[in-house]
Amino acid sequence: MKGVILAGGLGTRLHPLTRITNKHLLPVYDRPMIFYPIQTLMNAGITDIMVVTGGNNAGDFLRLLGNGEDFGLKHINYTYQEGEGGIADALRLAEYFAEGQKVCVVLGDNIIENNILAACTKFEKQQHGAHLLLKEVPDPERFGVPVMNGRRIVRIEEKPPEPKSRFAVIGIYMYDSTVFERIRQLKPSGRGELEITDLNNQYIEEGNLTYSILDGWWTDAGTFDSLRRATNLVVETGANKMPSPGTPKR
Ligand code: DAU
Repeated sequence: MKGVILAGGLGTRLHPLTRITNKHLLPVYDRPMIFYPIQTLMNAGITDIMVVTGGNNAGDFLRLLGNGEDFGLKHINYTYQEGEGGIADALRLAEYFAEGQKVCVVLGDNIIENNILAACTKFEKQQHGAHLLLKEVPDPERFGVPVMNGRRIVRIEEKPPEPKSRFAVIGIYMYDSTVFERIRQLKPSGRGELEITDLNNQYIEEGNLTYSILDGWWTDAGTFDSLRRATNLVVETGANKMPSPGTPKR
């Protein structure tokens, strides 16, 4: 399975910090945010990785990550998203990189404590469809929220004012090779974006979506509160338990 990290968008919820740099280059404790999703994929054994970036600071990703050597990667692939067309629009750009294989997509501002290896192994065995990760949260209205019927996901609602479950769909998604054809059929939402939730709902309607519950903590880092929370969690418990590539020895 190949890995795709989505680090485009304009990060407007973090203005003025993101006026002068890309959100995913901001620090979360001792390393830039983008290091965490890279480590998440690598810890799951995924080493063929594409970073989708955008905005005015795309060149800084190259300066920071280079060819991935500091992470022990042989190579990193990059592509560029024009504008802020949404998460599914950013994923669309990875079609040629995917070469018909399954993809594990990680949002560049999502940080987890543990490992997604078990979920990846489960999805590798699934012939087709999609696999999501859920986490119980105190504030589901900020996220994609699954509507459950027993243990089955009936549909996902994006940022519902009255959430129908306490779970968030976290920003780690696994898809089969039909994902790109499905993205072509999406229509922009009310906020003018191609929504990942619309894509996931397509799989649900066809009965092709499975999920796992993530263990360990999970957070996004795209608002001032969640950025601070991410930093605190990393400081208190460590994330991915890996030394930071490129950190001078203390
Ligand atoms: O964090 C999980 C949540 O992420 C999910 O529960 C939601 O269903 C999903 O829509 C998303 O919600 P956000 O509103 O937090 O997404 P945001 O616009 O902050 O984008 C998250 C990441 O996706 C961002 O760090 C980079 C990438 N992205 C986003 C957009 C809009 C892109 O690469 N390009 C884009 O155009």
